[in-house]
Amino acid sequence: MTGHQVRQTFLDFFAGHQHRIVRSSSLVPADDPTLLFTNAGMNQFKEIFLGQEKRDYSRATTSQKCVRAGGKHNDLENVGYTRRHHTFFEMLGNFSFGDYFKADAISFAWELITKVYSIPKERLYVTVFREDDEAEELWQKVTGISKSRIFRLDEKDNFWQMGDTGPCGPCSEIHFDLGPEGAGPGHEHEEFPLDGGGRFVEFWNLVFMQYDRSADGVLTPLPRPSIDTGMGLERMAAILQGKLSNYECDLIVPIRDKATELLGNKMKPATLNVVADHSRAAEFLIHDGVLPANDGRGYVLRKIIRRAIRHARRDGFEGIFLHQMTPFVAEFMSGAYPELLESTERVSRIVKEEELRYASTFLVAEKMFRDEAKTAVGGILPGAAAFKLYDTYGLGLDEQEDMARELGLGIDVAGFDEAMEGQKQRARASWKGAEKATVNPAFAELPKTQFLAYTNLESTAKVLYASDSEVVLDQSPFYANSGGQIGDNGALYDAATGEKLAEVSGAAYGMPGLIVHKIKSLKPIAVGDTVLAQVEASARSASMRHHTATHLLQAALQKVLGRHVKQAGSVVEPNRLRFDFTHYAALSAEEKAEIEALVNAEVLENIDVATNVMSLDEALQSGAMALFGEKYGDNVRVVRIGDFSKELCGGTHVKRTGDIGGVKIVYEGSSSAGVRRIEAVAGPRVTEYFEEQLSAKDQALARAEKEKKDLEQALAQLKEQLALAQSSTLQPEELKGLKVIRAKVNNMDRVQMRSVADDFLNRGAADIIVLGSETAGGTVEFISAVRKDLTPKIHAGNIIKSISEIVGGKGGGRPDRAEGGGKDVARMAEALQKVAELI
Ligand code: ALA
Repeated sequence: MTGHQVRQTFLDFFAGHQHRIVRSSSLVPADDPTLLFTNAGMNQFKEIFLGQEKRDYSRATTSQKCVRAGGKHNDLENVGYTRRHHTFFEMLGNFSFGDYFKADAISFAWELITKVYSIPKERLYVTVFREDDEAEELWQKVTGISKSRIFRLDEKDNFWQMGDTGPCGPCSEIHFDLGPEGAGPGHEHEEFPLDGGGRFVEFWNLVFMQYDRSADGVLTPLPRPSIDTGMGLERMAAILQGKLSNYECDLIVPIRDKATELLGNKMKPATLNVVADHSRAAEFLIHDGVLPANDGRGYVLRKIIRRAIRHARRDGFEGIFLHQMTPFVAEFMSGAYPELLESTERVSRIVKEEELRYASTFLVAEKMFRDEAKTAVGGILPGAAAFKLYDTYGLGLDEQEDMARELGLGIDVAGFDEAMEGQKQRARASWKGAEKATVNPAFAELPKTQFLAYTNLESTAKVLYASDSEVVLDQSPFYANSGGQIGDNGALYDAATGEKLAEVSGAAYGMPGLIVHKIKSLKPIAVGDTVLAQVEASARSASMRHHTATHLLQAALQKVLGRHVKQAGSVVEPNRLRFDFTHYAALSAEEKAEIEALVNAEVLENIDVATNVMSLDEALQSGAMALFGEKYGDNVRVVRIGDFSKELCGGTHVKRTGDIGGVKIVYEGSSSAGVRRIEAVAGPRVTEYFEEQLSAKDQALARAEKEKKDLEQALAQLKEQLALAQSSTLQPEELKGLKVIRAKVNNMDRVQMRSVADDFLNRGAADIIVLGSETAGGTVEFISAVRKDLTPKIHAGNIIKSISEIVGGKGGGRPDRAEGGGKDVARMAEALQKVAELI
């Protein structure tokens, strides 16, 4: 049986026993800050186990993508060295939500294993929780297995919990005996459950979900005992294919072969295992929206990628290769996960960037290590320094130990571990950052709110819960924060008197399906009161315009930039929309214009916005866009805008695209590595935006003009001062009994020359003045001034006329004041010389 057949057989078997086949959820858990990655099939059903959510089925089966690297279940450092650890793997599971319990879970498992997969009973062992007498008895009764093959183990092995908190319970594990050849040297004579060499494969875990563990360790019984099981797909495939190691089964071998093809045959087996496993993890994680980063999920991904590179390097491969592995994985796994083919290029590009970054830092890192090593005291490199090298340059502790050995040094490993622990806590803090508000216990008692937001803007309603700041109603027209659209504002009135009781400043889900209105209380509100709940209609319309505009934008972005564009976050408000999406480069002006043009063309077309509820599978098959990390129930709402856009969405939308009015992108920038952000406005906000822009422009223009005027004034003053300073160097000469100035001045135009001349005449410091200056344009300007009473004999205009001719120009004027000039700068001195003859 091939691995792919093992998966399908499992799902078909449980579908045949009235289980709903549910799709794998994303590796990035939806709205669950207690979890780094999806690590078990039951994650997506957590709320159902806890009784906080209901589905229209009580039995389900899945093949779930899982990553166990970081968080409670972390296998990263084992991968490559054991036969059965993975970072990424697939977990097959069957689930009962208050439907069947222990007996049926055991019976289903046994039938599938022994009848369908046809595994001989003599090779199976079973474990039960130390205190679980019931399970021990049921195993014998239901399957006929002898008591000698059932073992009681304690919490470490037989009590399963998802994380530090959440649903948990005793479990029963089924083990397969590989036989003595699976035991490894020195362990041949061990008997179950003693297992030093990995002879016994634990391949299926049946969890009897009974409790909810709180942060302080208290176990509260679940409303209805349930079943959660997990069977390792790779383990079962290896067993059925007669292999001792998961890495020998047909789900992994082709990937290992691809690695050999790329890396050559010098690689150790562990390296090939590491590369095969980490290629799968990188492909699936990046596909699901995780990007390499220095904290949180991205940090784990970065570690996985770098670990693969480092192992290949250690075996002597220097180049980059991992980005050629991920497309192979995508193709190889596309039978079960066709969506991988949509992101193949994007994933490969991101892996390549990370590989190049590592390659370029590694050489630097080696040098940094040598520099740090010089500061070692007493032959020991401090742990903090080693951690910094690890964290900043990806230099593994083992690599550093190698390097240190060459230099005759040691490393303070305890200090390194301490620094690492600090980093882990920061990482935890960072992904816990999106802390879910702790659930108000009172909300757990309340029925779901009847949701009226699609049809009503106001409605009477009964108060089910009221505090100073929060109100819950039996039904509500208020849209509560979700899918990026922010909750409505409005008010609550006394239904009988019409008196306003409270302002509503937003609504949010306090529990799945339970709308909590945030209020500013004006009058007392009590449980049992009947109120009129009224949404602020204008703000809601504005939100609707921006929400539909967001869908148009997403579709346009994909058309213009490519199918790799995926939503990575969005906010829809009455005043604007913000949309983050995966893309590797800034948008060019042309791309932006094209996107806006496409969107506004759809607005002008005034297309019907249709909403339909259908099954998730039907929706996805019809090509509707779904989101990373978003959790969907069985029935989903699809918002369709003609042939242009089709998305899964629970938001409120305009009736026709024309209602949007128009859309304008007002911001484009980077949000984080590989993610761009745009902000846009719609409807009347577009005009407002342009008005703001125009008025800002007008203001800027007015400011610029005023500045120009001020500058001109300052310049004129400066010139004036300069001119006066120069004028003090001008010395009159005695010619024919008159005080005459004839001089070349610098950086003066006619205005300044005139004022210098006036100054001399007014003070009586000169009788006749002729000044020449070279202009910026390389021409000559002359002015001349003559004391008034001399003008009958000496004519300023005539002087100017003569000397202007010398410089190849013209000039003239009144007897006491004249101006002129020419082009021949070289002859200016000669012209001024001539003045003496003209007096
Ligand atoms: N949730 C159980 C596990 O992961 C089945 O082992």
